[in-house]
Amino acid sequence: MTKGIFITGTGTDVGKTYVTALTAKSLVESGINAGYYKAAISGAETVEESDAGYVKKVSEIKQDTNTILSYLYKNPLSPHLSAKIEGNPVEIEKLKKDFENVLTSHEFVLVEGSGGIVCPIRYDENSIIMLEDIIKAFELDTIVVADAGLGTINAAVLTVSYLNNKNINVRGIILNNYDNNSLMHRDNLFMIEKLTGIKVIAIVPKNAKNITFLCDPVKTLLRGEIK
Ligand SMILES: Nc1ncnc2c1ncn2[C@@H]1O[C@H](COP(=O)(O)OP(=O)(O)OP(=O)(O)O)[C@@H](O)[C@H]1O
Ligand SMILES: [Mg+2]
Repeated sequence: MTKGIFITGTGTDVGKTYVTALTAKSLVESGINAGYYKAAISGAETVEESDAGYVKKVSEIKQDTNTILSYLYKNPLSPHLSAKIEGNPVEIEKLKKDFENVLTSHEFVLVEGSGGIVCPIRYDENSIIMLEDIIKAFELDTIVVADAGLGTINAAVLTVSYLNNKNINVRGIILNNYDNNSLMHRDNLFMIEKLTGIKVIAIVPKNAKNITFLCDPVKTLLRGEIK
């Protein structure tokens, strides 16, 4: 059993939160005590109106709202820049403590990243924290969320390549806004698997109420088996 998975994406707004919420919902429906955690959110006034609140609402995870997020910034900027303006920069020790706390009360934790894979979380004279430092500190494998449409081959291959260069394991790719009637979407799925060597483990159509797994989610997510 693995303790959790880090959900990153090919960029901001690709649907990490949408996909994470449906993944959490699917795990909860399978009887798994799933949790959610996000290190830093920018551009929200409260936890409830942020990514964390959305995931909690859609998935119906039973989790204390106070435990799902460590840093909340009001400015809709990269966390490092929001912290420069608002203060309260991210401390890696606090993230580790907060993540451990969610782990103690859940069977499996979905951790959502901020932005794409190249995301400065803190950048000042005292500390530099990039997103990959958090993934490594949490000792997690990753899932990459990519849009199914035009431009995704480039974005998905570059994201997987960056993660490979940082020695971070990619368990699978999830294609969001996927339309099975689109020749381009079907070809994007095929080409991404060929060029990255990583399986597309699930698809999420536009406005989907459920995620469609192309693998056994328990084996892939909870047991870390990759076929
Ligand atoms: N499959 C989908 N069907 C309908 N709407 C979607 C879908 N995926 C994403 N969206 C919408 O697109 C917007 C961006 O999605 P989302 O917030 O999940 O992106 P994100 O990658 O989590 O962004 P961020 O980098 O800010 O965390 C949201 O308004 C969301 O509701
Ligand atoms: Mg999000």
